[in-house]
Amino acid sequence: MIELKNISKTFQTPRGTKSVLSDFSLTVNDGTFLGISGESGAGKSTLLSIITGLQKPSSGKVLIDGTDIFSLSDKELSAFRNENIGFVSQEQSFLENLTVLENVALPALLSHKQNLSKSEIFLRAKKLLSDFGIAELSEQYPNVLSGGENQRVLIARALMNDPKIIAADEATDAVSEKQTKEITSIFKALSSQGKTVIFVSHDKAALENCDEIFMQVSKVRLDF
Ligand SMILES: Nc1ncnc2c1ncn2[C@@H]1O[C@H](COP(=O)(O)OP(=O)(O)OP(=O)(O)O)[C@@H](O)[C@H]1O
Ligand SMILES: [Mg+2]
Repeated sequence: MIELKNISKTFQTPRGTKSVLSDFSLTVNDGTFLGISGESGAGKSTLLSIITGLQKPSSGKVLIDGTDIFSLSDKELSAFRNENIGFVSQEQSFLENLTVLENVALPALLSHKQNLSKSEIFLRAKKLLSDFGIAELSEQYPNVLSGGENQRVLIARALMNDPKIIAADEATDAVSEKQTKEITSIFKALSSQGKTVIFVSHDKAALENCDEIFMQVSKVRLDF
């Protein structure tokens, strides 16, 4: 279960203090496929980066299965994130000198969560790529990927450690309608297995499969 308790986030900008999230609380139960929509600049990516432990809120708490994630040390938080959270962010990239397969396998190579041998890790990475219909890209380097391929490889990498929580920021932005359906049905299936999926999207059709949809995170306010 994810519990967001009275989250606020402000940024200092040259024009003053920008309040992006204000006293935002939300509980997301295991097995939920939650969609988040809202205007550009509303704070969706900011919220996702706080839920996934990448960015600290200015105030408030994030509890994941009762663990206050920002009370963990940096080292504990990175291990926690790597094992429990699969994050597909809007600005994510790959290690360019590793192949697609190696990039997908990397989270498992850096973690002992599943106790897999190296060959089992690469088998799992291959299986994920083939689930997304891009097995043939395994030995390519990421710089040749198209937008849609890039998104699917990012999602495959996010699923590598079999995380409890999958957070995806506009993960279907660059893909076709058919691939959007495929990706969201994979998210739906993962949530039916008890995982929590939080999916930010502008695209109403992409949000169709969600159990719940949150339409607006906040309105950004500037205090001079
Ligand atoms: N580090 C930062 N410093 C200052 N302002 C920031 C920072 N990060 C985000 N913001 C501002 O916070 C607001 C919310 O940004 P955010 O990226 O969360 O929006 P979003 O809802 O994801 O938008 P989009 O749909 O365009 O991706 C924006 O006005 C953005 O400019
Ligand atoms: Mg965003």
